[in-house]
Amino acid sequence: MNKPDLKDQHHAASTWRSLVRQAQALLMDEKDPVANAANLCALLFDSLEDVNWIGIYFLKEGELVVGPFQGKPACVRIAMGAGVCGTAARRREPLRVSDVHEFDGHIACDPISRSELVVPLLCADQLVGVLDFDSPLPGRFSAADEDGAVAVARVYCEAIS
Ligand code: SME
Repeated sequence: MNKPDLKDQHHAASTWRSLVRQAQALLMDEKDPVANAANLCALLFDSLEDVNWIGIYFLKEGELVVGPFQGKPACVRIAMGAGVCGTAARRREPLRVSDVHEFDGHIACDPISRSELVVPLLCADQLVGVLDFDSPLPGRFSAADEDGAVAVARVYCEAIS
């Protein structure tokens, strides 16, 4: 890894530390899952660079249904195992895709999206939904972004529990 990459990683990590603190302050006094999802997505979309969509899909009766988001109108329902969101949901693991054109079964809600990060919302071991990030830049999301997204997903789960 060269120096600029290391610098980028540090920058991303410190941005996420700040976002985790802001998310805690914003969500901790509220238990409503939709209200907190709306504010979390607004905070993230307002703070992160080079993203065109951030939102939450809730797991409802076995499929993912779009919840609060920031960005252009999106696909409403995603089957478990379908696309990047449904794959992350089924595996119950974060999924980082550097080039969505290379991901078999990617669901293109907005053709400008080129990379994607999806983090499952596992609240008390129950899959509640997923937090989805889209970027128009290939390779936008780093390991530090994934760690940060997992940390804010944890804050969300703690708040609604
Ligand atoms: N691209 C996603 C669908 C959701 S949108 O990006 C908002 C997927 O493949 O699951």
